Amino acid sequence: MQEIRYELTKTPKKKPAPGDPLPFGSIFTDHMFVMDYTAGTGWHDPRIVPYAPLQLDPAAIVLHYAQESFEGLKAYRTPDGSIQLFRPDRNAVRFKSTNERMVMPVVPEEDFITAVKALVKTEKDWVPSQPGESLYIRPFCIATEAHLGVKPSNTYKFMVICCPVAAYYPTGLNPVKIYVEDKYVRATPGGTGYIKCGGNYAASLISQEIAESIGYSQTLWLDGVERKYVEEVGSMNCFFKIDGTIYTAPTIGTVLPGVTRMSCIDLLKKWGYNVSEERLPVADVMKASREGKLEEVFGTGTAAVISPVGVLKYKDEVAQINNGEIGEVTQRLYDTLTGIQWGRLPDDMHWTTKV
Ligand code: COI
Repeated sequence: MQEIRYELTKTPKKKPAPGDPLPFGSIFTDHMFVMDYTAGTGWHDPRIVPYAPLQLDPAAIVLHYAQESFEGLKAYRTPDGSIQLFRPDRNAVRFKSTNERMVMPVVPEEDFITAVKALVKTEKDWVPSQPGESLYIRPFCIATEAHLGVKPSNTYKFMVICCPVAAYYPTGLNPVKIYVEDKYVRATPGGTGYIKCGGNYAASLISQEIAESIGYSQTLWLDGVERKYVEEVGSMNCFFKIDGTIYTAPTIGTVLPGVTRMSCIDLLKKWGYNVSEERLPVADVMKASREGKLEEVFGTGTAAVISPVGVLKYKDEVAQINNGEIGEVTQRLYDTLTGIQWGRLPDDMHWTTKV
């Protein structure tokens, strides 16, 4: 990557004070990273500039055919005041696989990490220090060519923006209620379920609305062919502890390979748990609940961290999990993972990197 050009703001915004609410994804920092791509030239003009609206041709391909990709990761303030990232290399790899599937130019992994680190360094005073707070980082890529025929764009922008955040769910670590979607589907084999493209999320909104209308937080998606096997929740991967074994859906093309998901699997295996990535029928989950064997359910994600699930509704049946309380494994994963991320625990797994 060429040398990053800096154009810093002369009118910095007022930062939230410690203790101010940080609703997820709604307060943005002073700067953004931008780099352009032109077919034949490649990526050029990396720059950190004041955060501002984009000028985009109304015919830009991203606006019509959704040629777009994104990532999500966080920067954490450690007890000694330094700042660290959690496994940014995994995000860089996933971003590459998303761009390949979307026929977009790949951002080299080292450039992805350089861009993220440079922006976080610039915005270091925006990294909050209250418990549970972090700087959410959103790298993304959009197709900018003005063209209404369906084809891959010849020009793109790769950008990174950041926002200081607290918990994704307003309920914090209190268990969330999940609605199992049995009509709409999120992903089918051969589709885009395994990548982070905006279209996956746009298509999920209808179910999210249904869930919210009946008092549930999010949707648990079933497989798109038989609507039989559990896959993932709107913004997180999902784990089920049944009779001592911990199940999570396999990443065989329709499930997002979450960085938190893979980290939890590593920790659980290290602790000696039996982790199964076999496909799990939703009927087995509900049966286990009826038999008192559904011990814990939790979601994992960068934004959601570890989120206990207290209620699962499938058709007319409602499963109450662990009396609506966070389970032992869920709590241990939360404590360990957040301990490593915020630098309170030694990073035996070598997952963090200083900014
Ligand atoms: C993340 O966890 O980083 C996500 O991208 C989920 C989301 C907020 C869509």
